[in-house]
Amino acid sequence: MSLHIDAAPGDIAETVLLPGDPYRAKWAAETFLDSPRLVNEVRGMLGYTGTWNGNPVTIHGSGMGMPSLSIYANELVRDYGARTLVRIGSCGAMQDRIALRDVIIAMTASTLSTPSRGIFRELNFAPAADWPLLRAAAAAAESRATTTHVGGIYSSDVFYDERPDLNEIMTRHGILGVEMEAAELYTVAARHGARALAVLTVSDHLLTGDALSSEARETGFAEMVEIALEAAFA
Ligand code: HPA
Repeated sequence: MSLHIDAAPGDIAETVLLPGDPYRAKWAAETFLDSPRLVNEVRGMLGYTGTWNGNPVTIHGSGMGMPSLSIYANELVRDYGARTLVRIGSCGAMQDRIALRDVIIAMTASTLSTPSRGIFRELNFAPAADWPLLRAAAAAAESRATTTHVGGIYSSDVFYDERPDLNEIMTRHGILGVEMEAAELYTVAARHGARALAVLTVSDHLLTGDALSSEARETGFAEMVEIALEAAFA
């Protein structure tokens, strides 16, 4: 048991999918896993463990933003022995060529700051995905109809940004999309020798202002879960 997860030892799989929304964790576990069972509900942050093609998998909410994700990622890795962590979430597109519903696989995650900033001090650590996971996710995505982009994303600390110029600078430097969790996930995984990746569906577009309906978000979400599972067990 850890401070924010009251699963019994052994109740968390080595492979963990991390959606931001705990209800997405419930939906994904009930939709894609065999014999899913609830293993955590502290603070409503639902986690389920079941099997996919016979492989044990946990699907656990991370909450929104890097400080929340950091708590769960640290406890999953340090207290429960998770070794492969795949974020499945949404992002805002930052390039014209990217459309709503496209999938973005995050090779790197740029930031202004992460909860790990304090330990790096003057060093600008570059949070990066695990290469075998990234390669496997790209291959899994390519076999589907959905357009996929692989490259750098921006993990922001704010959803309601009072500095739109920062987004413009990211766009000019080729960043594909913005979300709020991946950089800390990659950093925590790196610190503990675990593997991490973020697979994201484009839910809104920063350049056009377009956004997906909640129904369309669900379809995109299903595809991400499949890509994440195929990559984790490739
Ligand atoms: N900004 C930050 N995080 C997000 C966005 C966004 O536009 N869309 C989905 N997650």
